[in-house]
Amino acid sequence: MADFLQRDPQLPAFWDERFERSFTPWDQGGVPQALRGFAAASAPLVTLIPGCGSAYELAFLAEQGWDATAIDFSPAAVALGKTLAGPHAERVNQADFFLWQPARPLQLIYERAFLCAMPRAMWPQVAARWAELLAPGALLAGYFFFDDAPKGPPFGISRAQLDALLAADFSCIADAAVSGSIPVFAGKERWMVWRRL
Ligand SMILES: C[S@@+](CC[C@H](N)C(=O)[O-])C[C@H]1O[C@@H](n2cnc3c(N)ncnc32)[C@H](O)[C@@H]1O
Repeated sequence: MADFLQRDPQLPAFWDERFERSFTPWDQGGVPQALRGFAAASAPLVTLIPGCGSAYELAFLAEQGWDATAIDFSPAAVALGKTLAGPHAERVNQADFFLWQPARPLQLIYERAFLCAMPRAMWPQVAARWAELLAPGALLAGYFFFDDAPKGPPFGISRAQLDALLAADFSCIADAAVSGSIPVFAGKERWMVWRRL
């Protein structure tokens, strides 16, 4: 890792360099189990996958008739995501989460390894953008990474910090332990669903 040139995860080049060198320790290599369970129990939702990386979830949801869109600001991530999405490649787009505009009102934002990819100082902006993109009743669901190591990414959060970040605009309606975590997240992530107030 020491010879990576890019050190600022707020820049697309940071992520490009890691995707181009296949250094992606956050990558699950497939669709996580809790999302499969959530999708099986839900009607199709208009869904955004921000910071999608390989975007395995995009094809999974699209194949079940969900109106899902995946975005990432790293050209290398988008290229990989489009390849893996196959016939759904047009649903993987290069865009900055803070600037992207939905074509239709979103019903779900799926979170996995996006908040924790951001320096902690950015978290209020991420939470504000989630709230801006979701109307009352819409959902923020996915994996949240709990840790207090000072260095990242991944930058972990505490439950109290997460509550403080989201309490003004969301209420937590599901919070569950997960199985099948990859090593970087093992024992430190939970599946959560938050409803926009
Ligand atoms: C740790 S990776 C996670 C990728 C994917 N969600 C996964 O679980 O494998 C974080 C991703 O967020 C993307 N990203 C970071 N900041 C972004 C932003 N402002 N807008 C869009 N994508 C962003 C990065 O390019 C990177 O692909």
